[in-house]
Amino acid sequence: MYQKQTLKVNSRHISGINDSKIHVMDKKYIIANWKCTKTIQDCLLWVDKVGPQLTTRGDTEIIVCPPFVALDAVRRRIADEGYVLKVGAQTVSSFEKGAYTGEVSVMMLTDLVDYVLIGHSERRSLMHETNQDIAKQVELCVRYYLEPIVLVRSEDDTIPAGVKIIAWEPVSAIGTGKAIDAETAGEIIEKLLHNGQVRGLYGGSVNQSNIASFIQNPNIAGVLIGSASYESSTFLEMLHALRSS
Ligand code: PGA
Repeated sequence: MYQKQTLKVNSRHISGINDSKIHVMDKKYIIANWKCTKTIQDCLLWVDKVGPQLTTRGDTEIIVCPPFVALDAVRRRIADEGYVLKVGAQTVSSFEKGAYTGEVSVMMLTDLVDYVLIGHSERRSLMHETNQDIAKQVELCVRYYLEPIVLVRSEDDTIPAGVKIIAWEPVSAIGTGKAIDAETAGEIIEKLLHNGQVRGLYGGSVNQSNIASFIQNPNIAGVLIGSASYESSTFLEMLHALRSS
């Protein structure tokens, strides 16, 4: 369905993916979720470090998810410099428009992002977002032509209709350094996806040592990276780890 992938870092041919497998695999996603860690300036420094190192053709999509306040600056820098990066929001309001002080709605994001993370476990536990809120956010994203990426902790978290990409993030693995092994993650993701049209990513303590195992797993469509994505140098090390795998 997608073109054969090549990804180069520092002019050296890298592929996150074993070449023999590329033809049977669809697009792979590498998502950097910066959470609440960076100023606008920090975000721009990161993209200026990583962006020039990337040339990509085909089917690896690298998506950065800055805080709302940095979205416009990051998007402009990527466009101006021609970096091969996409932009995602870390969340979105369940409301479309109106008297909801402090909310950022899909209609405000349409010119800024391609993707929206929805239902991160930190949003569910700390901001008390429910499956209903998440379904509403997905519905609004679909209506406004943004691609929702729904994060699920287990099969108790429902995957709303219209979702094409999910990320399975077991709470025990988020920010703990205790990633699930790729084989188990692949099996669980396969079970979570009742619908062949939905792609499943893995998230939770992805780092330089384990990223290749997730990317190479045919049941895993990519990775969602938190802490190991904060530093541009560590992020580049992960891409190099993919190249040498
Ligand atoms: P982590 O975070 O990579 O730091 O475990 C993942 C996430 O919360 O999305």
